[in-house]
Amino acid sequence: MILYFSLGYILLSSCKSKNTFSHHADSYYAHEYMAVSAREEASKTGAAILEKGGNAFDAAVAMHFVLAVTYPQAGNIGGGGFMVAQPASEEPVALDFREQAPAKAHEKVYLDEAGNVIPGMSILGHKASGVPGSVMGMFEIHRRYGTMPWSDLIQPAIHFALHGFVLTEKDVTELQEVIEELDSINGPNIFTYKKWKAGDTLKQPELAETLKRIALFGPDDFYRGETARLIIEEMKKHDNWIDSIDLTNYKAVWRKPLKGNFYGYEIITMPPPSSGGIALLQILFMLEQWKIHTLPFQSLRYIVTVAEAEKLAYADRSKYLGDPDFIRVPTDSLLSKNYLNQRIQDYGTPTKVTPASSIQPGKIFGFESEETTHFSVVDNKGNAVSITTTINSAYGSRVIVKSAGFIMNNEMDDFAVKPGVKNQFGLIGGKANAINPGKRMVSSMTPTIVKENGKIKMIVGSPGGATIITTVLQQLLNVLIFKQGMQQSCNHPRFHHQWIPDFLYLEESWKEKQNLLDSLGIAGYTIKIRPPIGRVSAILRTHDNRWEAGADRRGDNAAAGR
Ligand code: DON
Repeated sequence: MILYFSLGYILLSSCKSKNTFSHHADSYYAHEYMAVSAREEASKTGAAILEKGGNAFDAAVAMHFVLAVTYPQAGNIGGGGFMVAQPASEEPVALDFREQAPAKAHEKVYLDEAGNVIPGMSILGHKASGVPGSVMGMFEIHRRYGTMPWSDLIQPAIHFALHGFVLTEKDVTELQEVIEELDSINGPNIFTYKKWKAGDTLKQPELAETLKRIALFGPDDFYRGETARLIIEEMKKHDNWIDSIDLTNYKAVWRKPLKGNFYGYEIITMPPPSSGGIALLQILFMLEQWKIHTLPFQSLRYIVTVAEAEKLAYADRSKYLGDPDFIRVPTDSLLSKNYLNQRIQDYGTPTKVTPASSIQPGKIFGFESEETTHFSVVDNKGNAVSITTTINSAYGSRVIVKSAGFIMNNEMDDFAVKPGVKNQFGLIGGKANAINPGKRMVSSMTPTIVKENGKIKMIVGSPGGATIITTVLQQLLNVLIFKQGMQQSCNHPRFHHQWIPDFLYLEESWKEKQNLLDSLGIAGYTIKIRPPIGRVSAILRTHDNRWEAGADRRGDNAAAGR
């Protein structure tokens, strides 16, 4: 225990640290390296690892585990995610550590005898969970690119689990929303045994023990050892939903990242089973054809143009996206210039709004993917890492694995539980995203890296369910086309359209522009004002070769670096 305490402590509290830190500053810059995430503890940990000589991959692994402790609403070991990375002297890579459906899952598992969806079953409780991928994902990143000892990278997380972290206002508000469900599913538990207030310190001793085992035995513990045993025990209460074979069979998969060009910038992003990369590249292509750079920023025509492109991409998502290990996802066709030019031609020009009912997924010829968290890291060795990870809803399925202290995901809801029936984000899907044992559910997570003349320009990503893609899109537009700084870009009000439901979603602050809202209504949109969209953690290379953070004020996001 002393060892765990001291290593974690030394990493974090070195008084000689040259790192600086920002939390809600106007703009924050560093010269050498930077880490940005949803929590100050994780960003500072990332910077401390980089200061010790670790690379961006080492930092990312340590940050992931710290988020699993200090951001339990989304950070996780019971979930999954994706990484897009630019290693210093290699082609870009993508790692898929998305959850998999357990062997007991099947197409009708969330339907009653009459074939209707059983409300909440894919969202709450044990059967909402897929087989977690995060521990395998982190181990795989470390195996291929890590330079520091694996167990050292987990010490900061153990430190925060043992000694606690201070809850923020937002933490307490988000916890309040799930307290009854956490209680009814788990009985008395670490998150609900007292009424937590902002400023209180939350310690998680059981999670600390789990992390110590992971530090010592890596994925062997989580998928085959003591933690596996605890997951299996937990699942025994519910028809052995996830069993030992599901856990031993889990694999993280290296995939080829998608690449596209947007006004001369190279966009590197996540392939299926995420839908994020395909949708993002489709929208960017259409916007370049529609000369988005000629339209005034956030004007009526600008919003219409972006929203119409979004609708076309989300329509394709609903039909074609699924797990590429199970179905043939027509990635090349969906991204081909011929197909997209045809789609644009069929659509016409976005001078007016086309109702969602008049838009259908395109026809391709021949076949050739609230709560999540994103973090971005860049080191001074030429590596850049962009990771989005999730347990899906805030506090996932609300199931806390007994004696292991971590929360299981409710990622099964990202499958099309029934063709055409909306999931919790209003997204629909069909055959391509139907449930099958071992299959991965379609995601919207869009970890992305942008390069300019071969050099890293931006590392970006966000949580937000269906809005992830359009949030990432808006950061690219704001920075690459409208030349905003990274923080300035994050601060701008966001909008979102996902084809179905046929609503233009706007954040609260748009209400200040009543004339614009009226014009959007006249143009044909049904407007829905909604809670904040996305929580970006991004890094931008400035023209004078500094790193600028984008730490979204919609969350407690923070940056650290030097
Ligand atoms: O993978 C996905 O697309 C979703 N499970 C992400 C969920 C999410 O971002 C929730 N946050 N607001």
